[in-house]
Amino acid sequence: MPSLLERLGVELPVVQAGMGGGLSRHELAAAVSEAGGLGTIAVSGADAIRRELAAARALTGRPLAVNLLLPFARRDWFEAAAEADVLVTFWGKPRRRTPGVWLHQCGSVAEAQEARAAGADGVIVQGVEAGGHVRGTVPALQLLEQTRAALPAEYPLLIAGGIAEASDVRLALDAGASAAVAGTRFLLAEESRAHPTYRQRLVEASETILTDLFGAAWPAPHRVVANSATKNWLFRSRRSSFVGHRATKDERRLVRAPQANRALNRLLAPGARYTPPEVQQGMMRRQRPDSRLLTPAGVTDDGPATLVDAGALYAGETVARIGDVRPAAAIVRDLGL
Ligand SMILES: Cc1cc2nc3c(=O)[nH]c(=O)nc-3n(C[C@H](O)[C@H](O)[C@H](O)COP(=O)(O)O)c2cc1C
Repeated sequence: MPSLLERLGVELPVVQAGMGGGLSRHELAAAVSEAGGLGTIAVSGADAIRRELAAARALTGRPLAVNLLLPFARRDWFEAAAEADVLVTFWGKPRRRTPGVWLHQCGSVAEAQEARAAGADGVIVQGVEAGGHVRGTVPALQLLEQTRAALPAEYPLLIAGGIAEASDVRLALDAGASAAVAGTRFLLAEESRAHPTYRQRLVEASETILTDLFGAAWPAPHRVVANSATKNWLFRSRRSSFVGHRATKDERRLVRAPQANRALNRLLAPGARYTPPEVQQGMMRRQRPDSRLLTPAGVTDDGPATLVDAGALYAGETVARIGDVRPAAAIVRDLGL
């Protein structure tokens, strides 16, 4: 029986994860879809979604996805996203918001069951090794196995976390996934909008940190590569009292930001979705590695270069196995078996 993505006309079991704040825009999504995978646009605001979708449609006639984060998306963003072939949502109570194909990314079996009950056409199970914001608490293959056992055999499950090479995709499909979702590998595609220095840092990196440091208005765990901000806040003694945490080789353990940072982040969270874009831009520009408030904004090639050391260098554990920046089509071909 053809899989959900095959029925949509996606040839290969390869999905490029939505990478928010404009890291994945039309150039990347269109290149992935054109090569036979499913490309995903992740931008904020209804106008930006429509603009990026139109630009991608001009480059490919193949299916395209739009990704939205539930805590921040507003009604008109969903209306714009409904024009995509697939809506992928993440973070928060799953609820059907568009009539078309809807996938929800989950971090637990309970969340996957909730998404299915809410009418999701399939779920993406995210493992703890994933890059960006991390909902999963166990390795992706483990969560896949648990979710497979809990949901009907024919229900589409996709997997995110740990996907960088064809052998990863093979393992995932053999374990019952209908497709594999990769973020970090596609962040290191020529068409992504990651800042060039961010990409260089990732190419050189071999370790990641799971932390909540970049939690202004969104105090949630995320996986990043070290930079001046993480060195300043997470791994340093300040005055006589130790407020950070010892450097750890355990990449799966949450390294918490100092208590005062976390308190500030929590305080700001309720108003986050109402913060005007100009205010958010100003915060990003002023942000320094020693700022107590560190926004979760991604480091894009058209944003302030200061964010490379003051912002979040999101990346998954696969970063240790990725050593180059390549065209998205070549990545899709390599992953696509
Ligand atoms: C740079 C970056 C940004 C991300 N932003 C989002 C996002 O905006 N929305 C979302 O649903 N997932 C986001 N994710 C998580 C992905 O959906 C996916 O779970 C993750 O990339 C899988 O792990 P991998 O990066 O190791 O492939 C992001 C991941 C990365 C690496």
